[in-house]
Amino acid sequence: MSLNAPIPVDVVVMAAGKGTRMKSRLPKVLQRLAGVPLVQHVLNTAARLNARSAVVITGHGAEQVEPLLLAPGQALAVQCVRQEPQLGTGHAVQQAVPALADDGVVVILSGDVPLTQPDTLQALIAQCGGQQLALLTIDLADPTGYGRIVRQGEQVQAIVEHKDASPAQRQIQEVYSGIMAVPAKQLKVWLSRIDNQNAQGEYYLTDVVKLAVADGVPVVAHKISDALQVAGINSPVQLAELERAHQLRQAHHLMEQGVRLKDPARFDLRGQLDGAQDVEIDVNCIFEGRVSLGEGVKIGANCVIANCTIAAGAVVHPFTHIDGEKLGVSVGEGALIGPFARLRPGAQLGAEVHIGNFVEVKNATMAQGAKANHLAYLGDATVGERVNYGAGSITANYDGANKHRTVIESDVHIGSNCVLVAPVTIGAGGTVGGGSTITKSTEPGALSVARGKQVSIANWARPQKKK
Ligand code: UD1
Ligand code: CA
Repeated sequence: MSLNAPIPVDVVVMAAGKGTRMKSRLPKVLQRLAGVPLVQHVLNTAARLNARSAVVITGHGAEQVEPLLLAPGQALAVQCVRQEPQLGTGHAVQQAVPALADDGVVVILSGDVPLTQPDTLQALIAQCGGQQLALLTIDLADPTGYGRIVRQGEQVQAIVEHKDASPAQRQIQEVYSGIMAVPAKQLKVWLSRIDNQNAQGEYYLTDVVKLAVADGVPVVAHKISDALQVAGINSPVQLAELERAHQLRQAHHLMEQGVRLKDPARFDLRGQLDGAQDVEIDVNCIFEGRVSLGEGVKIGANCVIANCTIAAGAVVHPFTHIDGEKLGVSVGEGALIGPFARLRPGAQLGAEVHIGNFVEVKNATMAQGAKANHLAYLGDATVGERVNYGAGSITANYDGANKHRTVIESDVHIGSNCVLVAPVTIGAGGTVGGGSTITKSTEPGALSVARGKQVSIANWARPQKKK
């Protein structure tokens, strides 16, 4: 290692606590904020710190928590260590000791504090500098329940837990956030020396502060003022409050990029949204996964849009549901979608395509200018330019065992209430008469009609009711 190389960072995430106040079968750290489990937020932040490793302390609900942590796709090397029984935060971090290298800085985080920003932790790590014990602190108007930062002059002397604090100490408003950065080597030594002689009979991690002071290691407090970054979740009410606060922040961030939100208080983003300028989003829309909106895109009220790319100038009318899941959905420039449209995985719509009310599109490409304006289903289909697909028509793509493709070449006109039984191709420029069930491919330019022939009986007298 060269002299200037940054000190490696290893993260410990405490996630073994019970979370009784959530009143849920789901472990607390798996509750979701903005669609993502709380502990995953913490790991995402750790990954953005370029941490070398993460050790997660599990206990309550470990059999549910660990599969998520160890699932493929984690940006960090994650190791799970069980803490059983749970004898306090100091005891929790003791469990991680065998998994921690000696040469790093350890950043200790809580699995139920999801919104700490990477730059805040970078500043904390810089304060630690591999030499000092750095505590993330904040002044709270109501510090009840928190560990207080006890200073002598400016010098931090100890953290005293609320239950152990004297009346004078309880007046202190500066509290420990639960987050610290500490040289690994010293942490290990201090952890071996903490005891449980306190009001709660627990091994307190916070006791490392007085051990550091006793060893002459400087303790520094990095005080922030943004309470959201250290807010922990203990109850459904706190979860909902933090969700709203987080959503409002995301909304402001988007508006700063030029996105117009009709009401930032009625906007939900559970993933990532890239919005170009002059995008307009009406109220009560939910965005999930990865969504990208081109310049001037308009999204009507009450839409749910997930995993989708919408090109410039397209308009999505109210009550439309789009979910691209793994395959994605793309909507071309100037397309008009909805109201009440449903776009499913693999829907790829070209420029100026129109999809109207109660139209479902799945795994289908529609070329420029194609239209399906009312009450229709297009699944496993390739639709050419300028095709007009009539109301009530469907592609019968599934034979009960396999899916088959329907090809509708350019400039075809499909009448209303048709069934296209796949595999089938409708030749370019062809017309299919309303009410037809098409089972054989048709030639370009042909009119195809496949339905019972109409019979009309002149002057037909209806039966009369018997007297
Ligand atoms: C802790 C701090 C307190 C601080 C507060 C900030 C201690 C002793 N006190 O108190 O100074 O102001 O956080 O929120 O550290 N956990 C385990 N195993 C255990 C106990 C807890 O994994 O045996 C986990 C919990 O799941 C939670 C975290 O550690 O994620 C914090 O535990 P919690 O009981 O909430 O600590 P506090 O009493 O709030
Ligand atoms: Ca807590």
